Amino acid sequence: MNLRPSWILLQDEPSTLSDDIRVLDLYKGRDIGWVSQMNFLLDEYASEGMTVLDPFAGLGTTLLASGLRGLTTKGFEIEATRVELGNRRLQEAGVSQHAEILHADSRKMPLMRESIDLILTSVPYFGAERSADEGWTKASGQLYFSRVYEEYLALLEDVVTESARVLRKDHLAVFVAENVMTKEGGFFPVAWDLARLMGKHLQLKEERVLVYPHNLKNLDREIRHDSHQTDRRHEYVLIGSKRLSDLDGTANEA
Ligand SMILES: C[S@@+](CC[C@H](N)C(=O)[O-])C[C@H]1O[C@@H](n2cnc3c(N)ncnc32)[C@H](O)[C@@H]1O
Repeated sequence: MNLRPSWILLQDEPSTLSDDIRVLDLYKGRDIGWVSQMNFLLDEYASEGMTVLDPFAGLGTTLLASGLRGLTTKGFEIEATRVELGNRRLQEAGVSQHAEILHADSRKMPLMRESIDLILTSVPYFGAERSADEGWTKASGQLYFSRVYEEYLALLEDVVTESARVLRKDHLAVFVAENVMTKEGGFFPVAWDLARLMGKHLQLKEERVLVYPHNLKNLDREIRHDSHQTDRRHEYVLIGSKRLSDLDGTANEA
């Protein structure tokens, strides 16, 4: 039997975000992921002809990785400036014909149910504490605005529910998340709560751990608080599939 490794050590990746896009971004690209991480997950879970969706598109890393291998890919992003910058990045990479970020709140995706073959995303961090004062759009669904953990989880659950609606039968939703340290030295179990939410709306299939080679001292202190007791070099990949009982759910149908 060909067993998949339950944890994966990724290689450090030089930034794939151009300086002009990073400078214009409201968060200076601090929360942008690695193409190699998405490549690893696409190798495992995507196949030719699939349509891939990222409900938290950001500056389009998932779409870039998917687009470069010829897959049709869409993303939703609630922050308008990021939609523009992300699409510029996709255009510069030459994949914009089949990769596009749309301006939408993923709690209500402008998609027919069962129209997506693979959902692949990194969820917004809890504790990013962005605000409209810094230029971010005042959007009620923006997870980065949540200051109360339970409110953040409620928004996240709405997106998980929508993901289950748009996913095709037996197809996979792959969410990457990490537990988040508090300034006081505790932690919010984001990844574990997300797994619980996924278990409500999808069939949980698998969990895997991604391990990073970087040094904590090189990381952004705004996201990774000083009170860490360890070097925090892992996050979770949570995989769920569309359950048969979800198939007749039409609650969010337009
Ligand atoms: C961790 S970032 C994603 C970064 C992305 N993986 C990349 O590397 O480009 C999460 C993104 O989710 C967006 N977001 C937050 N709430 C959202 C919502 N309700 N609908 C759509 N996008 C949302 C944020 O604005 C942010 O850009």
